[in-house]
Amino acid sequence: MGVFGTKNFMRDYLSRQIKKFGRVKFLQKRSASDFSESSAANGPSAEEIDFTNLPRHIAVIMDGNGRWAKRISMPRAAGHAAGAETFRTVANYCKKIGIDYLTVYAFSTENSKRPPEEVAEIMRLLDKYLREALEKMEKDQTRMKFFGDTDALSAELRELITKTNKLSAEIKGFQVNMCVNYGGRDELVRAAKRYAEDVKNGLPNELSENAFSDYMYSEGIPDPDLIIRPGGELRMSNFLLWQLAYSELYFTEKLWPDFDEREIDRAVIEYQKRSRRFGEVK
Ligand code: FPP
Repeated sequence: MGVFGTKNFMRDYLSRQIKKFGRVKFLQKRSASDFSESSAANGPSAEEIDFTNLPRHIAVIMDGNGRWAKRISMPRAAGHAAGAETFRTVANYCKKIGIDYLTVYAFSTENSKRPPEEVAEIMRLLDKYLREALEKMEKDQTRMKFFGDTDALSAELRELITKTNKLSAEIKGFQVNMCVNYGGRDELVRAAKRYAEDVKNGLPNELSENAFSDYMYSEGIPDPDLIIRPGGELRMSNFLLWQLAYSELYFTEKLWPDFDEREIDRAVIEYQKRSRRFGEVK
């Protein structure tokens, strides 16, 4: 026996877990530390993710960049730069653990009212990350889609988006949906206008929920199962208004730049405790 009785401890632990979950279920429950080093270092609740019951689609309101920067006496731009790095970490992690879709709110229709230098900084970051994505997406088998009125963006960004869309059409894997100049109400109005146009041209004759979904930016993509909002605010801020009908919502005080793999674990674990009834009795 080792100094701390490791062998007995492990044997007892395993038999307790098998008793609790049954052999198959327990063996299917993989530790998050299989996927992330920071998860391994962050305590026992990492064990609780059930990898047989992952949300297929996670969406995030990346809030708290400005407050994070203020806390360390840095300009807001530093908060956005840190937030963009967090996006990279979270996207890599979601892909690694088997999430199919990650949708992030990078810039809302309302964000254009921010000081021009802040808007320019967010656009610069988008430009930087899109160039990087273009280099790697084929190798990583990661595709991207853009939700929002991208016509209003700079010619350079629009060109990058066109190239990204073209490349994405060839890719089948994990998908990032980047919401840029996006607003949920704006998306609904755009959908209504496009539908009206189709009716004028004699196309569809009956409007159903399913048919109308195809007029959204999210056409063909399952609705988000889990929407995460860091930063402590308890509102949806015009995000995915059509798609969120039955999404599970997860709010946390953590600021977005402080988010990491472990925070995603926490949100997923909380999601797995919810009973999703979709309005039915279960
Ligand atoms: C909200 O925090 C965040 C934004 C409006 C911008 C988010 C943009 C990025 C993370 C960078 C670009 C994105 C990518 C994916 C490359 P806030 O500024 O409102 O924070 P506050 O509430 O603390 O002021």
